[in-house]
Amino acid sequence: MGLYSLITGRRGPSGFGSATSAEEVTQRIDATHLTAIITGGAGGIGMETARVMAKRGVHAVIGARNIGAAENAKAEILRQNTNARVTLLHLDLSSVKSIRAFVRDFHALHLPLNLLINNAGVMFCPYQLSEDEIELQFATNHIGHFLLTNLLLDTMKTTAKTSGVEGRILNLSSIAHIYTYKEGIKFDSINDICCYSDKRAYGQSKLANILHANELSRQLQVAFTHTHKHIHLSEEGVNITVNSVHPGLILTNLFQHTALLMRFLKFFSFYLWKNIPQGAATTCYVALHPTLKGVTGKYFADCNEVTPSKLARDETLARKLWDFSVKLINSVSKKNYLGFEDTI
Ligand SMILES: NC(=O)c1ccc[n+]([C@@H]2O[C@H](COP(=O)([O-])OP(=O)(O)OC[C@H]3O[C@@H](n4cnc5c(N)ncnc54)[C@H](OP(=O)(O)O)[C@@H]3O)[C@@H](O)[C@H]2O)c1
Repeated sequence: MGLYSLITGRRGPSGFGSATSAEEVTQRIDATHLTAIITGGAGGIGMETARVMAKRGVHAVIGARNIGAAENAKAEILRQNTNARVTLLHLDLSSVKSIRAFVRDFHALHLPLNLLINNAGVMFCPYQLSEDEIELQFATNHIGHFLLTNLLLDTMKTTAKTSGVEGRILNLSSIAHIYTYKEGIKFDSINDICCYSDKRAYGQSKLANILHANELSRQLQVAFTHTHKHIHLSEEGVNITVNSVHPGLILTNLFQHTALLMRFLKFFSFYLWKNIPQGAATTCYVALHPTLKGVTGKYFADCNEVTPSKLARDETLARKLWDFSVKLINSVSKKNYLGFEDTI
């Protein structure tokens, strides 16, 4: 799927393309048996994802840091579809404490979990540390979703096993993953203000989204192969796929730090941009479409599989990021719980 397809909307091998909407890509899909968590589902692409999923019958659990905005989103979804099942829970992905509280609140609902849509994100923020003292874009876009996914994985495994329905995890990445720091991820200076670039820090966090999806996919596949060979599949099979997507260019609140510049650029490059229903299509396609059964560790744009950057395909880098993320979260948890070593 190249520039020509993006501009013309020409459809790729999946039968869908850049002009396809989330509703079109999920037409005739009955998802009434599914429960999904959608982070950042109170606005932008996340809200459209929640709306369309709910329209197909999914019980949509929206994780939002702004509950007022989430209530408005829920009211709008219900206004269009009185049967929609939408639950709101508070979630601030830049806070380890908030993520743990969200997971506790979710578990208290005693719901199954089939789909985890790691959608929330911030972009091009001026240098800032999160409450856990991690650079804000890395903290929100990667570390928050990394921890959330790990904390929800057992529930997803149980759901997949008891229901026999494949679980799916999806990370919202971006084409911007190609524009990162020279070394990909700045492991030795993740919080350094001196060489901070708001653009490269965003690219770094979006690269991390792909590396995370790929590494988790590999780990689950190894577990699956292992169980096939040595244990009883019926007891231990991990029927969960993990993929990442670039949704396209959509003028949402994500551009709040460069709003004027973007409006100006959009004027001259309108043919590269999508509307929000088109922007949610790749997410809904990868999350719900039956043809993607068993497809894992892949990257999608315009509803078709594409190849991400060389760094994004680097397995050693992905493993290193995994270990780094675990260490970072454990160091935060240690601080929060006054010396109690809490491992994720
Ligand atoms: N739009 C694009 O062109 C584009 C391109 C490539 C990739 N993406 C990716 O697509 C995803 C969705 O973007 P979007 O365009 O829909 O942006 P958006 O309209 O700004 O929506 C982002 C959502 O994330 C939430 N969020 C931000 N920080 C959070 C935090 N700490 N905890 C919980 N929620 C938080 C926001 O909540 P608040 O309302 O409280 O801020 C908002 O609901 C992002 O991951 C983005 O990187 C977007």
